[in-house]
Amino acid sequence: MIPRVLEPESMDGPDEVAQYDAMDHRAVNDRFVADFLAAHGPCRGGEILDVGTGTARIPIALALADPKARIVGFDLAPAMLERAGRNVAEAGVADRIRFILGDAKSPASLGDVRYEAVLSNTIVHHIPDPAPALAAMVERLEPGGTLMIRDLARPDDAETLAALVERYAGEESPEARELFRASLHAALTVDEATRLAAGAGLPADCIAMTSDRHWTLTWRRPA
Ligand SMILES: C[S@@+](CC[C@H](N)C(=O)[O-])C[C@H]1O[C@@H](n2cnc3c(N)ncnc32)[C@H](O)[C@@H]1O
Repeated sequence: MIPRVLEPESMDGPDEVAQYDAMDHRAVNDRFVADFLAAHGPCRGGEILDVGTGTARIPIALALADPKARIVGFDLAPAMLERAGRNVAEAGVADRIRFILGDAKSPASLGDVRYEAVLSNTIVHHIPDPAPALAAMVERLEPGGTLMIRDLARPDDAETLAALVERYAGEESPEARELFRASLHAALTVDEATRLAAGAGLPADCIAMTSDRHWTLTWRRPA
């Protein structure tokens, strides 16, 4: 089993933001949105919280897919949110997406509001101890609301990790390949993710491997 090796938490350098935003994540983002809508059903008009929103590619895809979607993008990095604001304006959905700067590890910064759904894509691996952030996300969910968290899964061995980097980032720049390799190293295994969910009082079957490199937590708070 390869050990978890953390990478920097915040992605706030201008070069880092530009490099991340230039990577083509459309296929995985569209799959995230389709899986969320399949689990949740059509948006009901309440606000949806996206934790670690980055440059808002998932909120934009969700707003374009469902005209009732209203999203709050939450992130630690001002430079990410600055780019996110521009992307949202360019996509013509600025009237349904707003942003909050804050740290998911400090539950108070998520505010007292309950959300129709809480989403998060590929941020768990950035957080050294994700338990307080997960507890805060569960707490912010209104009755009947959907929690969907997806992240990379750390493979068991170095050969599998190298093969994933080759398969999914082989054509990318050396910097993008290195970012993907480091992210896989920093990720939880699916067993660690299952223990994390259990620690937040969620059932073990809420976690599943949903691709050869992602686990997904899907849970509906009882109405
Ligand atoms: C790999 S990016 C993913 C962005 C976006 N979810 C996506 O799928 O394109 C991870 C994001 O999580 C943010 N992040 C990391 N730790 C955070 C924390 N403790 N609280 C809020 N955001 C955090 C980073 O600043 C970065 O924007």
